[in-house]
Amino acid sequence: MGAGDMGERAMSKPEATGRDPIGRAGGSAPQGTGAPPAVPAPAGPAARVPRRLRRVYALADFEDAARRHLPKPLFGYVAAATETRASFRDNRAVFDEIQFLPRVLTDVSRRSQETTLFGRRWAQPFGIAPMGVTALTAYRGDLALAQAAAQANLVDIMSGSSLIRLEEVVQVAPNTWFQAYLPNEPQRIAALVDRVAKAGFGTLVVTVDTAVVQNRENNLRVGFKTPLQPSFRLLWEGLTHPAWVTSTFLRTLLVHGMPHFENNFAERGEPLVSRKVDRDFAGREHLDWGDIARIRRQWTGNLVLKGILRPQDAQIAREHGVDGIIVSNHGGRQLDGAVSPMRMLPAVKAVAGDMTVMIDSGFRRGTDILKALALGAQYVFIGRPFNYAAAIGGEAGVRHAIAMLSAEIRADMGLLGINGLDELGPDLLHLGGSLRREIDRAC
Ligand SMILES: Cc1cc2nc3c(=O)[nH]c(=O)nc-3n(C[C@H](O)[C@H](O)[C@H](O)COP(=O)(O)O)c2cc1C
Repeated sequence: MGAGDMGERAMSKPEATGRDPIGRAGGSAPQGTGAPPAVPAPAGPAARVPRRLRRVYALADFEDAARRHLPKPLFGYVAAATETRASFRDNRAVFDEIQFLPRVLTDVSRRSQETTLFGRRWAQPFGIAPMGVTALTAYRGDLALAQAAAQANLVDIMSGSSLIRLEEVVQVAPNTWFQAYLPNEPQRIAALVDRVAKAGFGTLVVTVDTAVVQNRENNLRVGFKTPLQPSFRLLWEGLTHPAWVTSTFLRTLLVHGMPHFENNFAERGEPLVSRKVDRDFAGREHLDWGDIARIRRQWTGNLVLKGILRPQDAQIAREHGVDGIIVSNHGGRQLDGAVSPMRMLPAVKAVAGDMTVMIDSGFRRGTDILKALALGAQYVFIGRPFNYAAAIGGEAGVRHAIAMLSAEIRADMGLLGINGLDELGPDLLHLGGSLRREIDRAC
């Protein structure tokens, strides 16, 4: 779980979409039809866009809809960034320093967005970042995210701070990855890793940028705290957001009972309302590379570290036999002022060797994703917009988000003059000062 302040209002207005006035995206029509391509419908059999998603033309549009749907403390928790939100802002600003140098007349009729991670083919170069307590913002949120991702064949990382048993998620979506926050004792870490392996997960993601609990000032400002405590404010929020109360909160209580933290340990954790919840998130100060070495000896699947920013740490991860890293500042939700992952990507990539290099924090557009791939990332994860999509539209909402982003990438690839993601490289970019220096330093 992260923490922080109220959401970024600048992100809440629909951005310029690159679509015509009735909302059609360029470049995704079947070849040779001459017909203008339509806004993508969610993939799959039931491809009708639910009414509440019809005005959602881009990922950023989900935020406004979620602000209306969710009680203020919950929306505030998802939108949060820490303290001054400096990292959060720069996560977006960095993309303006990178421009494209498109190729022309290259016959882009055979475009494919497929990519390979750890020997498996995925349909898209983007996936869903782990997010805690998604079953509080969306009914059975972890399942909605995992099933939409499975259906579209992209990576979903299930958070360890979740309210649905990991066994249940991997059963319906077997290619889901599991993200762990490490417990505070080696025996408990080993027991959790054992449980994840027995459940059948093939990839374990260990988040390493949360040594201590971050400043929760911005959560408190919007009234979000764990444990959840009944209060007049919460009651009022419920009364003023009846759709969320009936479709998510009451439905969860009636069908499944009071949610517990299910996956922080090998055994079931505390209920959401328990005063002992905070204790379970503390006490990680002493974790170090020795814990990663022990996990590496025990875990035979793919091991990924999430939250690396320093090339030196990437190097140490590699020496510990880690298979992949996610370059991330946690979406600006941990150390305020931590550098944007995009700024460090070239330098990290330069020392990563055989490790798979992935990235998250601030990605909202197909063009953002292509910029990261051109700088050496192999995969991009996105957090908040998928959380909002699940909150307002459940699995159909997430499918809509995936379909829109996929259509953007398809169009962007055509306009960039490429047929495959492996054609992306720095030669297709025009870089601003600081990033240019990073690349020159790294190469
Ligand atoms: C509501 C929320 C909860 C999160 N919970 C977790 C978590 O449990 N584990 C984790 O590793 N990262 C967590 N994160 C961070 C995301 O995995 C990811 O790094 C971040 O959201 C990416 O930035 P973006 O939201 O700008 O795409 C959370 C983020 C959000 C928004």
